[in-house]
Amino acid sequence: MSEKTSFFEKQLNLPIKTIVLENVDSTNNYCKKIAKATANDALVVAFAQSNGKGRMGRNFYSPTDSGIYVSYLLHPALSAEESSKITTAAAVAAAKAIENISSKKAYIKWVNDIYVDNKKVCGILTESAISAKGELEYAVMGLGVNLFAPLGGFPDDIKDKAGSVFKGILPSTDTTISFIKEFHKQFISVYNILPDNYYMEEYKSRSLLKGKTVTFIKDGKENEGFVLGIDNEARLLLSTENGAVTLSAGEVSVKF
Ligand code: BTN
Repeated sequence: MSEKTSFFEKQLNLPIKTIVLENVDSTNNYCKKIAKATANDALVVAFAQSNGKGRMGRNFYSPTDSGIYVSYLLHPALSAEESSKITTAAAVAAAKAIENISSKKAYIKWVNDIYVDNKKVCGILTESAISAKGELEYAVMGLGVNLFAPLGGFPDDIKDKAGSVFKGILPSTDTTISFIKEFHKQFISVYNILPDNYYMEEYKSRSLLKGKTVTFIKDGKENEGFVLGIDNEARLLLSTENGAVTLSAGEVSVKF
């Protein structure tokens, strides 16, 4: 354990077993490994990831200093179907935490990306372990947030889309610790009452896409649609030239 990791563990002082690592392949993978040996919940925090995982098999850029990468190992009393609520609850918690530490308005881009100033600053990936009986054994909810701008900027493939919560200021340990503490507080307050989804009102009110024209792939074809809103099951409601479309998963693109 380095001086920095033990400092973080002490400062965080959270009511959940917390493991802080300098570098790991992926905090989600780390949680899945420890899930084999414990029935307890845990929080894993890493300063960098060598193989950070994003949605849809993508890589998640995870350099040291600019971002922080956290995963929760959770054993919720939810059905396998209900486990998707962990992601939407985490999106609300992340948006609120970002806003509370930065005073910048944070929006949710369906399904679970957080945007500040029209740039993606945070992504969430939840992975669930389902038993042979179809029951949820555990879930791993991982969140990566670009708090500060990376030295030398973002790589070419994401530089048009990615941004950081704070711009032009140096990475700060205090701010990073404040974010994790604030996120934990916000997340646990919604997670503890799942599957109740009262938090969906907040999710909807932070929608980046409502009232915008987006493109999306359906049945292998690119379509355009106008976003009418989001329902209580976190489905995206669109109006297209071929009628109403409801998306329950996937990704849409928007031009700013
Ligand atoms: C996305 O934007 O596609 C989701 C990104 C999720 C990244 C986080 S960082 C912490 C955790 N560990 C991972 O390997 N991925 C998630």
